[in-house]
Amino acid sequence: MASRLGTQLGEWQATGGVAQALADRIRMLLLDGRITVGERLPSERALAAELGRSRATVARAYELLEAAGYAERVHGSGTRAALPAQRLPRAAAVDGDVIDLTIASVGSAPGMHAATVRALDRLAPLLGTPGYSLQGLPELRERIAARYRERGLPTDPEQIIVTSGAMHALAIVLAALGERGRPAVVEQPTFAHAMEALRRTGHRLLPTPVTPEGWDSAHLVDTIRQQRPALAYLVADFHNPTGATMPELERARVAAVARSVGTVLVVDETCAELDIDRGWTPRPFAAHGPAVLIGSMSKIAWGGLRIGWIRASREHVDRMLSVRPSLDLGTAVLEQCIAIELHDDMEGLLSHARRRLRIGRAAVADGLATHLPEVAMPAVPGGLAAWVDLGGPWSTSLSLAARDRGLLLPPGPRFSASGVLDRYARIPMTWEPELTAAAMARLGAAWRALRAGERSRHERLHDAAVV
Ligand SMILES: Cc1ncc(COP(=O)(O)O)c(C=O)c1O
Repeated sequence: MASRLGTQLGEWQATGGVAQALADRIRMLLLDGRITVGERLPSERALAAELGRSRATVARAYELLEAAGYAERVHGSGTRAALPAQRLPRAAAVDGDVIDLTIASVGSAPGMHAATVRALDRLAPLLGTPGYSLQGLPELRERIAARYRERGLPTDPEQIIVTSGAMHALAIVLAALGERGRPAVVEQPTFAHAMEALRRTGHRLLPTPVTPEGWDSAHLVDTIRQQRPALAYLVADFHNPTGATMPELERARVAAVARSVGTVLVVDETCAELDIDRGWTPRPFAAHGPAVLIGSMSKIAWGGLRIGWIRASREHVDRMLSVRPSLDLGTAVLEQCIAIELHDDMEGLLSHARRRLRIGRAAVADGLATHLPEVAMPAVPGGLAAWVDLGGPWSTSLSLAARDRGLLLPPGPRFSASGVLDRYARIPMTWEPELTAAAMARLGAAWRALRAGERSRHERLHDAAVV
């Protein structure tokens, strides 16, 4: 049977020594959180059999990991993943000299401070109430419903649940509608934390491919029809990380198949309005058939606001409200008041976000042209990031080399349910152009070193430790 590590390793290929490449791969899985510290690794014999390699190779890879502090061998209980005492910090945007591109999000919108001040007046009359807001303030639900109506989807405020961000919305949806042990479709690549949430609630992930050109519609539809998953989690608008948007006809087809086999479509619209120059605007997914929609203010206004929502049928809303108290007792009322204020100028917020993304996209394109001229900038009409094709399975190695140069960039497999996608990297378009330029210069240095066959500093260090 395939081990969890074997699945996570996915397709990998050794450019140098096999043991070294295997150790690198495991180290990356650990550094970006796909293997947890303390997790037991398969026995040498089992992993060797699973990967079709010799036991000596796996033993050598474990030795390399152990020498560098990434594994611990405990006599009688096998090998466990570990972190060396001194590891590179996981920083915020720029911490000391580290640039962190693991996050694709913008700083707060300019009106955020003023909206917060105005929200205090809105809060005053609510202070006499208990303040638990399980479904959300009626006025905010009405604003959110009105926005759906403007986008072409009739919506009643009773169909809305206000949440503390989109991830929290997903947690509520999964608590109410998820089914432990059943399959769930996810795009490949997809938003990594959503995959984690699906896994944590016991779903078996069925990946379906997406590229900047769009979905493999036949694959998606066949997977739903044949596997009858409990859920399918889709990011149909400005998909994170590819930026693709699913055409309306395809939405209708997916919705019809999902309805016919009883699959609940969970469509994450966190990026839906981040249009730079798409040239057309689809209606929300639920205009084409039953779907639970998730939305958020994080990318329009500020991630620190923690306001999101769910739009669903009344029946699903009732189910979600009945499980919500076991998770939390409602979203912060002051935050909701701020969100109401922000809704007064939604167009202003959106045009600001779009302007920033346009500038961010130009900075990524410039950075690629200057520092990684062999890597083409994909067409990205909107969304948070550019999903670039490196032309070969080098993303993990590039990520490690970038780390050595003070740049944190998640490798492509971080966005995959099965450990593939090592030829891709996600570069956020959300940062200030100066920061992006500095990040791209570091990425370029890592790229050149990689191409020149230089091995990462970590490798040289632990080579020294084991020779
Ligand atoms: C598709 C998608 N869903 C959810 C989130 C997280 O949203 P929130 O901050 O509202 O939890 C993100 C953030 O990048 C995202 O890209």
